[in-house]
Amino acid sequence: MQIFLDSTDTKVIADFAATGLIDGVTTNPTLIAKSGRPMLEVIAEICDLVPGPISAEVAATTADAMIAEGAKLAQIAPNVVIKLPLTRDGLIACGHFANEGVKTNVTLCFSPTQALLAAKAGATYVSPFIGRLDDYGFDGMDLIRDIRAIYDNYGYETEILAASVRNTAHVKEAAVVGADVVTIPPSVFGDMFKHPLTDKGLEQFLKDWASTGQSIL
Ligand code: G3P
Repeated sequence: MQIFLDSTDTKVIADFAATGLIDGVTTNPTLIAKSGRPMLEVIAEICDLVPGPISAEVAATTADAMIAEGAKLAQIAPNVVIKLPLTRDGLIACGHFANEGVKTNVTLCFSPTQALLAAKAGATYVSPFIGRLDDYGFDGMDLIRDIRAIYDNYGYETEILAASVRNTAHVKEAAVVGADVVTIPPSVFGDMFKHPLTDKGLEQFLKDWASTGQSIL
């Protein structure tokens, strides 16, 4: 499973990229606003930090304007992925970029039939929002499961990018049901390393090792 960071915090991205475990980064207009920085500058910096796919989202709502914005964003770096909303116009723009060989991430996906359309439009990634569905009393993971089944039934190559992830249980379940990618806030990535039994076990090992008086080096 590929792990992307859902962030525009370049310091945090650089820190976690140093683990060698980050395959890409996703951003959205909310995260750009949170950074307080010009979008083109932030995306360029992230593209330098992480060599994998970096999603940069358009702000336009008509297909022609999305295509113009996407073309500009694609010029930032070769690893930019154009993020488009799952609307009629977004999918027209997606089809355009698919024909041009430009990678896309179709976002704000909340239903299996939306995901089917994204695959038909040639999306590189589709982003179902797990957490926001959970917030509304649905089971976000059912959506991932349904999309997996649909894509496997017809051999669609669009990758399922589980988004709006709130905790490590979401990451585990997305991996179990076969999401190709999970994009996670940095705090959730940090939590993935942790287990109280790891801490307890290490403490005991270190204590026992110290009692031997040995040194490996
Ligand atoms: O980037 C899209 C998605 O991951 C947003 O998550 O937490 O705002 O629902 P959230």
